[in-house]
This record gives sequence, structure tokens and C-alpha cells, in this order.
Amino acid sequence: MTEPEVSYPLTVLRTAAELRAATQTYRDEGKLIGLVPTMGALHQGHLALVDRAARDCGLVIASLFVNPTQFGEGEDFDAYPRNEADDIAKFDAHGVDFVYAPDAAEIYPAGLATTVTVSGITEGLCGATRPGHFDGVTTVVSRLFEHCAPDVAYFGEKDYQQYKVVQRLVEQLGLDIRVVGITTVRERDGLALSSRNAYLNPGQRRAAPAMYGTMFALAGRLHDGVDIAAQCAWGAQALLDAGFDSVDYFEICDADTLIPATGNAPNLRILAAARLGKTRLIDNMPVDPPD
Ligand code: PAJ
Repeated sequence: MTEPEVSYPLTVLRTAAELRAATQTYRDEGKLIGLVPTMGALHQGHLALVDRAARDCGLVIASLFVNPTQFGEGEDFDAYPRNEADDIAKFDAHGVDFVYAPDAAEIYPAGLATTVTVSGITEGLCGATRPGHFDGVTTVVSRLFEHCAPDVAYFGEKDYQQYKVVQRLVEQLGLDIRVVGITTVRERDGLALSSRNAYLNPGQRRAAPAMYGTMFALAGRLHDGVDIAAQCAWGAQALLDAGFDSVDYFEICDADTLIPATGNAPNLRILAAARLGKTRLIDNMPVDPPD
């Protein structure tokens, strides 16, 4: 007789010590441990990361923490959507074993005077318009790595610079963690899923897919001898023409170093950030888009 498959209910843990104790037997059994860091307000983009982790790993930890240090002054930390019960139910339905939802004091205990900074790759693109943002990300991700001790960590290509920054962090600190990037999940009209899409009014929502459309059009016309700066200027103007209020950047960069390209080259990536009213949207695409 075969044993019936036992399914354990998902457990929510609030401290690193509890998480360590709860995961120890799985570590002893040699199970591959996957971590999906999130700030909640889950949508199918986050859940694609969870699904991949559930497929790859014997144990999946998802973290839920709206990290104050990565929000700048005047950004949406207070307004950031929070609904823990809904998020936990979604994690449960997608095969998460443990949700790590620490209090702020667990991540940032009183007196903590250490910040993790990755230089260079954090300075352009979103780093230029959101000073301090990536220090907040690399510091919280370092804490989550320390608390969760994963073998594999999953990040969305939607936040491409963040994914590359975390890869750099892991490489440079010699952490034994594999960083896996997951393709951006989009609406039917191309708009990348984001919890910030909920801030858009109907007119802004209609304009928003132009970010995808513009990058897609540009990705198809880059060829030898093309003037990269002119193409980027065209892209920025196309966003304004479509109804965006301002463009933080529209750039074509080397996909690994994120250094702006000066001519056509292999392995380029288009990256853009632009605002519809107060809502800032970001997106990116490889120059050779998949069919
Ligand atoms: P958050 O915005 O909640 O995103 C969590 C993860 O989901 C990130 O790796 C992000 O790139 C990915 N993601 C978001 N939208 C996606 C989409 N449409 N398709 C695929 N993946 C998508 O990013 C953060 O949180 C934070 O900075 C964090 C890494 C948790 C550190 O605080």
C-alpha cells in the first residue's frame, strides 16, 4: 500500500530564530531551500517566482516585509498596499512551506549601524532617480539571506536592475546562493504586472502599455550602425506622446553591467522608468525579444 501524500499547512514565522528552528530538519535532510523575497500585495508576477521555486526546491520560504529603507522621502511607503491574510492564502495555494513575515525590529534591531552597499551598478537608472533605494534593497536582502539561509533565491526580471544588483552582491560577498531571474509577467496588453498599477486611473491605465509597446518597437529596430542616443530619445518622446507625464530614463545598456551602450552590441537591454501622475512605472526588455 502506498502512503497517502501528507500536506502540511503553511506556517508563518516572525523571527529568524523560529525560522531557523522550523527549517532545520529539512536542512538536515539535504532539501534544497528556495527563497522568494516579496513586499506582499501579491499578483501573478510574484506567484510566478513562487511557482518556479516550488518546482525547483524541496522547501520554499517566501518573505513578506515592506522594507522601509528602500523607500525615499515622499515615496509610497505608508500607502503601500498591505493585506497579509490575502497574501498568506495566495502563498499557501502556490506551495509555499514557510512565510517569513518579520517585524521591522527583527530586520533592523535598535542600534544596527551596518548598511550593505553595492557600488557602480547601483548608480545609474533607478539608482540615479531614487538615491539610497538600492542600499535599502541590498541591506534587507542581506538580512533575509542571513535569516533564511537559502540555496536558491528568486527575483523578477521586472526589476531588472535589482536582480543584477543582487547577483553582484552574492558574487562579491561569495555567498553560496544561486540567484535565479524570472521572466516578467504581463497583462494581455503588455503592461508589466505591478502592485503600483492599482494607483492608475482609467486614462493612465490606457496609456501605461505604451511602455511595453515602445520598448518592443525599439527592440526590433536596433541594428548595426544605429544611433543609440537617438533611439533612446525617440523612446522617451514616444512615452510622453502616449500620455506619460515625465520620463526618468529610457536607456539601452549592457545587460550584465548596465553600462549604457554606445553602439549596437550583443547582450543589450532596454530599460525605462516613467511617471503617470504620481505613479512611477518601470519596465525593461532584451533587445532580441522572444517571439
Ligand atoms: P516586490 O516589489 O514585492 O517584488 C517581489 C519580487 O517579485 C521581485 O523579485 C520582483 O522583481 C518580482 N516581480 C514583481 N512584479 C513582477 C512581474 N510582473 N513579473 C515577474 N516578477 C515580478 O522587489 C521587491 O519586492 C523588494 O525590493 C524586495 C526584493 C522584496 C526587497 O525588499
